[in-house]
Amino acid sequence: MSQSLNDSEEMSLRTYAPVVSSRARACSDGFDRRLHRRLSMIRHKVAVMSGKGGVGKSTVVVDLAVALALRGKKVGVLDGDIHGPNVPFLFGLQGQRPTSGPDGLMPLTAHQNIKVMSIAFLLDGRDTPVAWRGPLKHSLFEQFFADVDWGELDYLLIDLPPGTGDEPLSVAQLLGKPLWTVIVTTPQDVAVLDSRKAAVFGKSVDMGVLGIVENMSGFSCPHCGAHMDVFKAGGGKKASSELGVPFLGRIPFDPIVVRVGDQGIPIVLKHPHSKVSKAFSKVAVRVDEAIADLTEVGLPERLP
Ligand SMILES: Nc1ncnc2c1ncn2[C@@H]1O[C@H](COP(=O)(O)OP(=O)(O)OP(=O)(O)O)[C@@H](O)[C@H]1O
Ligand SMILES: [Mg+2]
Repeated sequence: MSQSLNDSEEMSLRTYAPVVSSRARACSDGFDRRLHRRLSMIRHKVAVMSGKGGVGKSTVVVDLAVALALRGKKVGVLDGDIHGPNVPFLFGLQGQRPTSGPDGLMPLTAHQNIKVMSIAFLLDGRDTPVAWRGPLKHSLFEQFFADVDWGELDYLLIDLPPGTGDEPLSVAQLLGKPLWTVIVTTPQDVAVLDSRKAAVFGKSVDMGVLGIVENMSGFSCPHCGAHMDVFKAGGGKKASSELGVPFLGRIPFDPIVVRVGDQGIPIVLKHPHSKVSKAFSKVAVRVDEAIADLTEVGLPERLP
């Protein structure tokens, strides 16, 4: 490693020594060839982004993954949030470890045969923090894409942290084209403002923007049935028409999402007839359609 490390980075580096040291092997062992071979077996790579934190990206990733799997797709999920990896927890896989197979590190298997990889599977403990700068994170992404045996997939969904920093840059650089992004926002102005930046970022690094999902959009009181727009309404739809990108749908706010998330079962499986699950199924259909449309007509050159 050429860059100097501070104490906490050295601590983290020691923790993941087996992971990071395989970087040298990766370079000397035809990294580009291996990366190309792995990626050629994955039909669609979709990075899920937002400008603002806490808007529901990880929730959208796990439920969209299940909804796509229920449509017969082979799905993988890469937890690209190195500092706050939540995907294993949301799939009920926390505490598990990946094993080595004949062709690389084996992803864990979640509901509906979804293949899952996350730095959380490689950490010593649940509370171990990762304090890494960009180059180390980039090395980890290289291994996630080149050294994990994803096999054949229709979709690889990548759960990213909020914003337009190291992680989306590494993902864009390593995956090249075609790479798609789904942008998640809540309807409120401050989230929409940030999500517009994510859309412009996606375009600037040559991602095809599949569209915007408006999460936590409207709430029906389970007691009296009254409707409330807790985070306002319509912001995601408005941003999508202003930016000229598809609107993929609204997911209502429902406290059950929080409860089943803590149980490690995506709501699409636990409560398939709920409004939220039906909304996720529609988003899965639109994602399929948007990819087919954009692949046919090619990526738009620039956002208006
Ligand atoms: N539609 C919804 N209804 C109710 N709660 C929701 C909904 N979507 C997400 N949540 C809850 O909101 C919180 C944040 O969701 P989540 O972790 O998916 O957001 P995130 O964008 O991935 O956050 P981060 O930016 O920290 O990665 C969680 O408690 C989750 O259960
Ligand atoms: Mg998240």
